[in-house]
Amino acid sequence: MGENNKVRLTQLSSKAGCAAKFGPGNLSKVMAYMNVQEQKDDPNLIVGFSTCDDAGVYRIAPDYALIQTVDFFTPIVDDPYTFGAIAATNALSDVYAMGGTPLTALNICCFSTGMDPEVYAQILQGGLDKITEAGAVLLGGHTVTDNEVKYGVSVTGYIHPEKVLANRGAKPGDVLILTKPLGTGVISTAFKSGMIDEEGMQEAITSMSTLNKAASEVIQQIGVNACTDVTGFGLAGHMYELASASNVKLKIKLSKLPVMQGVPELIEKGCIPGGGYANRSHYEKWVAFEGNVSEAEKALVFDPQTSGGLLISVPGEKSEALGKALSEKNVLRYEVIGEVLERNEPDRYITFL
Ligand code: CO
Ligand code: CO
Repeated sequence: MGENNKVRLTQLSSKAGCAAKFGPGNLSKVMAYMNVQEQKDDPNLIVGFSTCDDAGVYRIAPDYALIQTVDFFTPIVDDPYTFGAIAATNALSDVYAMGGTPLTALNICCFSTGMDPEVYAQILQGGLDKITEAGAVLLGGHTVTDNEVKYGVSVTGYIHPEKVLANRGAKPGDVLILTKPLGTGVISTAFKSGMIDEEGMQEAITSMSTLNKAASEVIQQIGVNACTDVTGFGLAGHMYELASASNVKLKIKLSKLPVMQGVPELIEKGCIPGGGYANRSHYEKWVAFEGNVSEAEKALVFDPQTSGGLLISVPGEKSEALGKALSEKNVLRYEVIGEVLERNEPDRYITFL
């Protein structure tokens, strides 16, 4: 066992976790070339890829729909077991963000040759333990040889077709709640470059390997208007997807954003992942900052998150009950961060102040 722990997984790849995502600008250029009309016409398609939702949803019976999603990435931590657990937690999160229940999972593995097999066994065990905790069943997977190690999971979940929580659905008068603190992109970049040690990474590790299961159960029990999880596109990016799909504007109080310890200081030292710059250049045109907003605060809202929290749009009158239920289920870092307004300027989707 001791030998394995000497492998530093984060040093094997150039980018970490969701920060390794093909940028939002790149992706929309690719999609522009595709002809998807026939797909959109399928009457059983509830959520497809055109609204940038967390997962696809397809009705297979009047009262039963499948939720399907896939996510995999390069190591964000050195410990193989923890990397596997985080990757699976992140993948499962897209089912939770739709309000669904995970059912089955398939592993996706890109493994380099020449590594101790026990390292890979630990990655897969970390993933399996989270899949089990989610109540889902691992059916198998696929492995290819790749110089850069990658791991992730394709997850299938289920939901009643009328209970689907998509990006669309947020309404003026809603309150916005975020269930995990921000900063995993900055923290993992700092760790990779040696600016913080394993101890400085601990809060992020705990957060990234916590399932959004409890938060998802609460939102189904209380009833909310829209939900997404905050991952690679950062808080501002996922907020834009939600605001544009719902045709609303979001007003966010920067002072209310939950942040991991040490993150503002690391940003000030220039610790911003490449994905943070890519998110900013793509989403900035739809965002306004009002008042005295620091560069650190700006970088934070574009920071790519790995296995981030749920962003929930809940009717104002239910927000107190939602907060209470989250506390009771031990979702302790949730925060009311802003509100939903009518959108009266064509290109203004989010105001941070
Ligand atoms: Co998502
Ligand atoms: Co994803």
